[in-house]
Amino acid sequence: MGNDVAARATAGFRQRYGGEPAGRWAAPGRVNLIGEHTDYNDGFVLPFALPLRTVVAAAVADDGRWSVWSELDDEPVEFGPAEADEPGRVDGWAAYVAGVVWALRAAGHTVPGARLAIASDVPVGSGLSSSAAIEAAVLAALVELGSLDLPAERWPRLAQRAENDYVGAPTGIMDQSAVIRGRSGHALFLDCRTEAVEQIPFDLGAAGLAVLVIDSRAPHRHADGEYAARRKSCERAAKALGVAALRDVATGDLDAALARLDDETRRRVRHVVTEDQRVLDTVELLRAGRIRDIGPLLTASHASMRDDFEITVPEIDTAVEAALAAGAYGARMTGGGFGGCVLALVDADAADAVAAAVTAAYADRGFAAPGTLTVLPAGGATRLD
Ligand code: GLA
Repeated sequence: MGNDVAARATAGFRQRYGGEPAGRWAAPGRVNLIGEHTDYNDGFVLPFALPLRTVVAAAVADDGRWSVWSELDDEPVEFGPAEADEPGRVDGWAAYVAGVVWALRAAGHTVPGARLAIASDVPVGSGLSSSAAIEAAVLAALVELGSLDLPAERWPRLAQRAENDYVGAPTGIMDQSAVIRGRSGHALFLDCRTEAVEQIPFDLGAAGLAVLVIDSRAPHRHADGEYAARRKSCERAAKALGVAALRDVATGDLDAALARLDDETRRRVRHVVTEDQRVLDTVELLRAGRIRDIGPLLTASHASMRDDFEITVPEIDTAVEAALAAGAYGARMTGGGFGGCVLALVDADAADAVAAAVTAAYADRGFAAPGTLTVLPAGGATRLD
């Protein structure tokens, strides 16, 4: 098998099923530039799609069942309508595929049986949304193979439902939106309440800048339980404050609102409300072409996640501090937390030096070496051929 992800998907298809796929569909991973744990609070996020992609080679299966092979796993997983219709029946990575079939069927679509082969360059477990990439690529394939009447604006909600209700992870709508609606050279400004999007130019290359993504390699300990706990605590706070969601607490009303809450809830709410404002401020600066100036907002977002939302871990904080000390304009953890990746805004010609400084700081602390990668915003889910 070659190294190219699309070639690997095709080779996997031929080897497992014989014959040629009817087509290949791809969807990327994502990073979030800013706006963390705001999506399920009906707030604002600003993610962008990565050049790393997941590719699905697929063809219709006349028996009305689904077979999925992934290069993560030698054995294909097979399921029929009965397993697809009962959340939880298919587990592991294949649950993201079964979840998409489930969500489509639950929305009243006639989903064709299919053979699917999946290859991916999006690392699993690094917080770069490898699961949303599978969901989006499979969704794109099934919509087209079945000629389903489902415009792409409705895909993120459907893929989110697959993840919430079939897989059982209570995530928001950011990841699916980013990997479906992302556009090359742009960050996606999303209002998670209305799902309105604005493509914000984010031309790092023209500005001589780069985003360095640092994989902390921190194990995702308790990530699921802690994520759900943060979400619950936000929902309880909104109820206590008499608003539909924390998005409705205006920055001007923040102090009065906080005075009514216990200390921990106060810090959770302060993170969400100030983070929404940081997203709006970042968008303003980017609209004015002032990319370097967003650095302090990124770093403030990190401090808020560390001190108020309490979702960072020592590896993550070390990476942020080392990147800033090495000259990054700003740095923050990206994604759900408790591990995953850090992003740093750097001069393109300083990216290697910043990566080396983070690696050295890791060695000093006795942490396993981090992964580093510079990225530019890429496009969302698409058919390849
Ligand atoms: C995970 C979830 C998203 C979002 C982020 C935190 O990536 O999947 O919906 O809540 O965490 O911003």
